[in-house]
Amino acid sequence: MTAIEVLPGCVLHPGWFPPADQTALVDDLRRVLAEAPLFQPVMPRTGKPFSVRMSNCGALGWVSDRAGYRYQPGHPATGQPWPPMPDRLLALWDAVAGYPQPPEACLINWYGPGAKMGMHQDRDEEAFDAPVVSVSLGDTAVFRIGGTSRGGPTRSVRLASGDVIVFGGPARLAHHGIDRLVPGTSTLLKDGGRINLTLRRVTKPAA
Ligand code: SIN
Ligand code: FE2
Repeated sequence: MTAIEVLPGCVLHPGWFPPADQTALVDDLRRVLAEAPLFQPVMPRTGKPFSVRMSNCGALGWVSDRAGYRYQPGHPATGQPWPPMPDRLLALWDAVAGYPQPPEACLINWYGPGAKMGMHQDRDEEAFDAPVVSVSLGDTAVFRIGGTSRGGPTRSVRLASGDVIVFGGPARLAHHGIDRLVPGTSTLLKDGGRINLTLRRVTKPAA
């Protein structure tokens, strides 16, 4: 399907992954999660739990705990390195990111029924010249994206299973979040819910 420009720098690729590839991707993720189990992130300082559970694959993983947000090379509970990023995701990055180096981090967000994500910016990386590449699997989510300053106008986009959304350039630091899931919109995950994958370049390549 053709790509849709949602905002300058933010491009939606509806149905990028056909159903068979979505199933294969979920199988890849089950292997990742067997090694790097989902953990419960909490907000810095307050310790309030996120409504999603998380894990990561790739050289670096994003974590949040009372000490803050950061990237680290190992799982917070097991201490083991994150599993490698599946080839299917590396190939996606090559196809849509328009960035010469590979991604270093893939954050896995697991949304149970009722989970959401408040508006935020992705800004814990050094390489803001690389886009964020985001994959949706399972139930449709209502995604909201605005500008680089908080509280400006926003647009709402429904992200269905298999959709890929890329935000880079002028949208790289756009505020974004998930207002809600639309239950019963996909049969990919047997208990419903949604998986979001966000691929990112963290470090600037050595000059
Ligand atoms: C995120 O911004 O980390 C998640 C976005 C999404 O779930 O689509
Ligand atoms: Fe984000």
